[in-house]
Amino acid sequence: MSINSNVHDAGSTPGAEAATVPAPNMADVGTVACVGAGTIGGGWAAYFLARGFRVKIWDPSPDAGDKLSALIDAAWPALTKLGLAETADKDNFTVHTDLAEAVDGVGFIQESAPEKLELKRQLLADIDKVTAPGVVIASSTSGYSMTEMATEAADPSRLVVGHPFNPPYLIPLVEVVGGERTAPEAVKWASAFYDSIGKSVITMDHEVPGFIANRLQEALWREALHMIDNGEATVEQIDRSITDGPGLRWPIHGPMTTFHLAGGQGGMSHMLDHFGPSLKSPWTRLDAPELTSQLRDDVVDGVDDAEPRPVDELIAERDEVIIAIRNVIASVKGQS
Ligand SMILES: NC(=O)c1ccc[n+]([C@@H]2O[C@H](COP(=O)([O-])OP(=O)(O)OC[C@H]3O[C@@H](n4cnc5c(N)ncnc54)[C@H](O)[C@@H]3O)[C@@H](O)[C@H]2O)c1
Repeated sequence: MSINSNVHDAGSTPGAEAATVPAPNMADVGTVACVGAGTIGGGWAAYFLARGFRVKIWDPSPDAGDKLSALIDAAWPALTKLGLAETADKDNFTVHTDLAEAVDGVGFIQESAPEKLELKRQLLADIDKVTAPGVVIASSTSGYSMTEMATEAADPSRLVVGHPFNPPYLIPLVEVVGGERTAPEAVKWASAFYDSIGKSVITMDHEVPGFIANRLQEALWREALHMIDNGEATVEQIDRSITDGPGLRWPIHGPMTTFHLAGGQGGMSHMLDHFGPSLKSPWTRLDAPELTSQLRDDVVDGVDDAEPRPVDELIAERDEVIIAIRNVIASVKGQS
């Protein structure tokens, strides 16, 4: 039996297992659960509330409810500017001390617990054990594959990765990918669900370490750390090199289209013929630098020097800028 009898069969994946019961119809998912409610889980909760869902929370931290309320309050102005669903209510969430109670009656689960493999393995197995059959369970993991996280679960067929970007209430992208034992229908269902709530979904056919965006971000991050480690650039210079440089192009063109235009009228073919040989120049180091305590302190001190404002102020400014950028792109492209 497929995980969602309303979704067309994606074909068989080697090792994929059939789930037991159909997942709910998209329109019937009135309540979702967020397991883990820190930066990302709280951001997901804020987004689900803004889209009109009731949200049930499970997080072992005693102050999880207070932190979540603060995060939702801070995010709500931005979500309001982007447009709330008719039924959106920022107080429509409950925090539970019992996992089974938290997932009871929900149509979808987003797990956003700390990035520790053993913890994820056990937690996903625990969630699976107490969740009604057929309900899809997504993990926000930044880099683990579902194949390695699903090892303890009794029903791995409904476990998928749904990798968001911080803050999940403003950045549309979600990368969706299953593990070797995930049913293709579960991946399809999760992709369709995220799409139905306004996310920009990339459904990946292969489990790639770091997925797509983090793999790209990591390359940049490693080079930045090398430059600080070698005293070649400061934190402030590195940040400005992107915000006042290529970063201004990225909201509209990804790295591939950016280089297409860098080739002028000749486009990508000129770009590759012209700059192809320099790809072999030793511009990059790529192997990760040793994170010595000196490098750690240099990076932390550098950030404190370059950006002394409190995190709350930076978050509010970031949210305002992201909304403005999204609105400009929409108006230039004539989407709304
Ligand atoms: N921070 C980011 O930019 C980012 C982006 C995308 C994905 N992620 C992923 O999201 C997940 C959460 O990251 P975060 O940045 O929100 O971390 P965080 O430390 O802010 O939050 C983790 C939350 O999980 C709770 N927790 C601890 N043990 C738990 C358990 N056993 N079960 C459930 N909850 C538990 C903590 O109390 C905390 O509230 C990670 O898998 C991470 O890789 C993070």
